[in-house]
Amino acid sequence: MEKRDGFASKFGVIAAAAGSAIGLGNIWRFPYVAGENGGAAFILVYLFFVVVIGVPVMLSEFTIGRRAQRNPIGAFDKLRPGSQWKWVGVMGVVVAFMILAFYSTVAGWTLQYVYLSLANAFAGKDSAALNDMFVSFQTSSFLPVFWQVVFMLLTAWIVLAGIEKGIEKYTKILMPLLFVIIIILDIRAVTLSGAGEGLAFLFNPDFSKITSSTILEALGQAFFSLSIGMGVLITYGSYMPKNNNLSNVAFEVSFFDTLIAILAGVAIFPAVFAFHIQPSAGPGLVFLTLPSIFQSMLGGYFFAVLFFLLLLVAALTSSISVLEVVVAYFVEEKNMSRKKATAIATASITILGVFATLSFGPLADFKILSKTVFDLLDFTSANIMLPLGGFFIVIFLGWVLSKKDVIDEISNKGQLKIKLFVIFYFIIRYIAPVAIGLIFLNGLGVFNL
Ligand code: PHE
Repeated sequence: MEKRDGFASKFGVIAAAAGSAIGLGNIWRFPYVAGENGGAAFILVYLFFVVVIGVPVMLSEFTIGRRAQRNPIGAFDKLRPGSQWKWVGVMGVVVAFMILAFYSTVAGWTLQYVYLSLANAFAGKDSAALNDMFVSFQTSSFLPVFWQVVFMLLTAWIVLAGIEKGIEKYTKILMPLLFVIIIILDIRAVTLSGAGEGLAFLFNPDFSKITSSTILEALGQAFFSLSIGMGVLITYGSYMPKNNNLSNVAFEVSFFDTLIAILAGVAIFPAVFAFHIQPSAGPGLVFLTLPSIFQSMLGGYFFAVLFFLLLLVAALTSSISVLEVVVAYFVEEKNMSRKKATAIATASITILGVFATLSFGPLADFKILSKTVFDLLDFTSANIMLPLGGFFIVIFLGWVLSKKDVIDEISNKGQLKIKLFVIFYFIIRYIAPVAIGLIFLNGLGVFNL
């Protein structure tokens, strides 16, 4: 077996985990799902889930990964040899396939928008024209698939370079830059005329809008955005140095991830209302909205190019983490070379992904369970498989591993004081599994709370 790579510095660890968490989930998915679910009330439920379920699940993943020093499947197998727990890891690899398949669709749209912004294609267009431009691109056959393939090749190329040099190097510089650009967009957005309505949509909750499906969507968004529930962070945990403070990393990553999502919302919703776009416009929302903001700001050309490039980078630092799960599994469990593993994983994910991409155009009427391929992958992975993975992960940590081992790993063999351990342990044993179970059954209509 190859020697395991590792992260070189503490900042590298946070940068890589934050790089995985921060991505299209924050900037593309959060606004579109929040828009479809009525805004502020949904966002409050989402925030609640991030704190009460998200952070503990994230810490659980880091703990399992660093303890086992393996990919998700190997990790469960090492900690409980010969048991059925490895299926949780297997589920993680499967959901990695599904997520990357539709993630690469949207990342492909991002590439097109890098190209369009470079070509100054938004200039002089009103929001109706910008809308037509997006829709005609999104529903066509060749270009979206072409960009998707380009994106998958980029992802594969970085994963091939290996953990340390491949991942750490890019995230450290570029994520803070993305943060700055979003703040600049926020400033422009809140000073648009009519911005108030957008801010009210974001921050003024109307609790009558909360339904069981909203709650399930909020849970799914929390899992998706934090990259939890499928073992990405088990894998990353396995690369973390033994002297890292896992709890702090979990807090910091969750904090920044959530902050970026909210800031993205602040950029988008004022513009949605100012330019008369439907908040519930669906997966295209960000692409319909942002070009209008760029048009209305000084240096819009420059900011548009920079923004879409950075969004692409954010998407890449997430997609490499997803591909890494599959590749680490092939390499460590199936004894493949890294090259071969990357090639096989990339090719098969891309094939599935093409169906997701075409489901906005030629395959729009091809539906399974009354959902298009894209919607089905998006819904099932985020709202069902990730929470289900999270459910098993907390059960494993809370009930299967011994409390002594858990404390040992989180406290770095007793070197760190872990103040909130009692709360954490209570959450992972009782609160999180029960909450996930109930939200789940309720959201799927198995029963009504
Ligand atoms: N969290 C990533 C994002 O917000 C997506 C992702 C989901 C990555 C699940 C890994 C695992 O873009």
